[in-house]
Amino acid sequence: MKKKINISIIGTGLMGLQHIKAILKSKKANLHSIVDITDNAKKLSNKYRIPIYSNASSLLKSKQLDAVIVATPNKLHEKHTISFLKKKIPVLLEKPISDNIKSAKKIIISSKKNKTPLLIGYHRRHNEIISKVKTIIRSGKLGNIVSANVLCWLFKHKEYFKESWRTSRGGGPLSINLVHDIDMICYLLGSITYVQAFTTNKTRKYKVEDTATVNLIFDSGALCTLNISDTIVAPWSYELTAGENPAYPVTNQSAYMIGGTKGSIQFPNLKYWFYKKERSWWNKIFLKSDIKKKDDNTLVNQIDHFSDVVLKKAKPKVNGNDGLNSLKIFAAITKSAKNGKKIKI
Ligand SMILES: NC(=O)c1ccc[n+]([C@@H]2O[C@H](COP(=O)([O-])OP(=O)(O)OC[C@H]3O[C@@H](n4cnc5c(N)ncnc54)[C@H](O)[C@@H]3O)[C@@H](O)[C@H]2O)c1
Repeated sequence: MKKKINISIIGTGLMGLQHIKAILKSKKANLHSIVDITDNAKKLSNKYRIPIYSNASSLLKSKQLDAVIVATPNKLHEKHTISFLKKKIPVLLEKPISDNIKSAKKIIISSKKNKTPLLIGYHRRHNEIISKVKTIIRSGKLGNIVSANVLCWLFKHKEYFKESWRTSRGGGPLSINLVHDIDMICYLLGSITYVQAFTTNKTRKYKVEDTATVNLIFDSGALCTLNISDTIVAPWSYELTAGENPAYPVTNQSAYMIGGTKGSIQFPNLKYWFYKKERSWWNKIFLKSDIKKKDDNTLVNQIDHFSDVVLKKAKPKVNGNDGLNSLKIFAAITKSAKNGKKIKI
């Protein structure tokens, strides 16, 4: 029988719990233990009959630990991740890599120095639809990519804002939602050269933004607009269209449109638009739908990939530098939002 990778989860809040469920579904991984100090964590330990440790050092004394998932608050990512990398334990680290660039670099250096893999938890890249889109773009079927349009319009209810951190800096849709879109658009279209952003808090009037528009210029010359708001009633966001998280009722719409000189693609509701005859706005444009089924196994796919990384069968799909890159773009967006100036990455 093939060996299952024994994984412990550090931090069993909202995201840690999702990882517990994903490991239990995975054929390649086994839930070794959890590390947390809350009453809820104790309940989880009883429910799933798994050992619980109060800190990383006591976990490190345990037996048969192969890897860990760090899902603690961002400001603790550096401390926790490096403590495991130093002991040559591979880490799946929740996004963002850290809350600041200096600390993100320390994490990357530690992974290199200890020759121990680090996978960053931008799980959307493990969605089969996204892999398919990447293959289509690479194949040249769309021609040269000219522009992209990403919508993240959704409406967050009153209850959501009872947590006060969600109404101040770092708690808005740029930090919570857009970071995923930034990682994904870079994965699909390559490196970014310039960003420019505008934000407003006009509707909710909290200290943090409720709406933002971001313009991107890629090294390839392609352009992109990301348009995000948590105060618009609409069906067009990756969250509401991908079907990855059962918490959101899924709409049969798309959130991404990528356009090239030979065709364009919209997804997650995967549709490809093209001409059969001469390319002209006067000719009929054709539509091909590729996949109908949503991929609701993204987090399990991520665990399976992480297990392959631990066994050295695969390289991390999202490495430390990808995490750092997203963080740099995010920092530039925040800076540009203050004065509207175009910022070079
Ligand atoms: N990939 C995604 O879509 C996604 C979604 C939500 C959150 N996240 C990320 O996951 C991480 C956790 O976010 P969350 O929403 O689950 O937060 P959370 O507050 O719900 O959970 C954090 C947990 O960490 C525990 N913790 C704090 N200090 C600890 C310590 N020293 N040792 C052990 N445990 C400790 C807390 O008790 C809590 O249970 C963050 O980095 C966040 O950005 C990712």
